[in-house]
Amino acid sequence: MTDSQLAVIVLAAGQGTRMKSRTPKVLHPLGGRTVVGHVVEAARRLEAAHVLAVVRHERDLVAASISEQLPDVLIVDQDDVPGTGRAVELAVAALPAGFSGDVLVLNGDVPLLTAETLGDLIARHRETGASATILSAILDDATGYGRIIRGADGELDRIVEHKDATEAELAAREINAGIYLFGFAALREQLAALTTDNAQGEKYVTDVLGLLRTAGAAVAALPVSDAWEVEGINDRVQLAAAAARLNTVTIERWQRAGVTVQDPRTTWIDVQATLAPDVTLKPGTQILGPSVIESDAVIGPDTTLFAVEVGAGAEVKRTEASHSVIGAGATVGPFTFLRPGTILGANGKIGGFVETKNAVIGAGSKVPHLSYVGDATIGDETNIGAGTIFANYDGVNKASSTVGSHVRIGSHSVVVAPVTIGDGAYSGAGTVVRKNVPAGSLAINVSPQRNLEGWTESKRPGSAAALAAETANSPTADN
Ligand code: UD1
Ligand code: CA
Repeated sequence: MTDSQLAVIVLAAGQGTRMKSRTPKVLHPLGGRTVVGHVVEAARRLEAAHVLAVVRHERDLVAASISEQLPDVLIVDQDDVPGTGRAVELAVAALPAGFSGDVLVLNGDVPLLTAETLGDLIARHRETGASATILSAILDDATGYGRIIRGADGELDRIVEHKDATEAELAAREINAGIYLFGFAALREQLAALTTDNAQGEKYVTDVLGLLRTAGAAVAALPVSDAWEVEGINDRVQLAAAAARLNTVTIERWQRAGVTVQDPRTTWIDVQATLAPDVTLKPGTQILGPSVIESDAVIGPDTTLFAVEVGAGAEVKRTEASHSVIGAGATVGPFTFLRPGTILGANGKIGGFVETKNAVIGAGSKVPHLSYVGDATIGDETNIGAGTIFANYDGVNKASSTVGSHVRIGSHSVVVAPVTIGDGAYSGAGTVVRKNVPAGSLAINVSPQRNLEGWTESKRPGSAAALAAETANSPTADN
């Protein structure tokens, strides 16, 4: 149900200098979404009446990425005044007239925060009636973070940025997580009082807390129980650490739901993937994007699936596959490359050193060895002989071929598209199928074989091959 009293502001305008990247920091990927994508997803799950995202650096890229994920988002452009305080000020000004509820401000670079933790924050804030409630964390190493400075009464007094802190303030281990819930009126009033009078010459949203306290308002900082939830991403060391942490959480969630993960250290599962009980993941497996793995499927070792559906009981080993469907009981691999649009029917097989693309392969059909199947539809219970190539490209245009059910394509055939091979047809080994083959016909077009007797002895006299041939052909040969 929509929370009409809630507006969420996602801060995503910063450059992320410490990433040293052409890609904006908030668009770096981890666990199947961008950094800011995780924040936007948490915001979406809160069902706030308004979600706003503030952008500036690489504005179009960041805005497009966020809008694609959350079409209802209101994009706010930050001007040349730097700082998180300015970003919030502009977003608050963009809120619809008449809004008077709570404003949740989320740093766009804190991706592991869960909607549950945010829900608790909102509930606590509304219970206590404070003007502001924020999340904090106790860290062993607080370097870089804003420090929570508590007064003699133990309540939050103000936040000091690392660069502005004194020696004594730097010793504080409680940090500001960059997650704030404000009453709208209190926030708007204090934003107007922000200055850029600090070490970085920026308007800090963190100063709103100290200003509120000075004005006599109630503010509270709630330490989270799991500090990793609020870790910010500022450089690539933190990015990798957060990705690893998210992966561990995701894997443990699936393990508790009945999935066997033989080697969690070398297994990666994106947040959008779903796995049924009794799936087994062998070492070196990546289940990426919105992949769906049904029960009793065995995936790996060394397999990467992106947006792939794997049916119950299927086996997929040493395979790279994307945007494909593998039917129940089917087998794929080892050393197999399924490109987008591959659909393998139940109990089918795509074997070693086979590449497929846009290929619909029916139930029980097999492409066991060393083949390319591109732009083809194959019926049920058909066998494609070793080394068969579906030639789908004449150098200018692509075309498709159709193969029926119960067909036997001989080894090393070339199926030159567009061509149709009827049910129950055969092709001889080495056939180049350029014309349609009616149902039940055998297609052959290789020329008859001639054997030139004695060729080696006469054309390669004295060679090892000639001597071997001479021995084999001598009347005393014992064969
Ligand atoms: C900020 C907090 C710090 C806190 C830390 C938690 C301030 C002043 N400091 O520091 O107290 O401990 O987060 O991770 O807020 N952004 C804008 N516009 C800007 C600048 C930043 O939208 O002008 C966005 C960034 O894209 C980023 C977020 O705000 O998503 C935080 O900015 P960042 O520069 O990373 O702040 P920190 O130095 O980490
Ligand atoms: Ca940060």
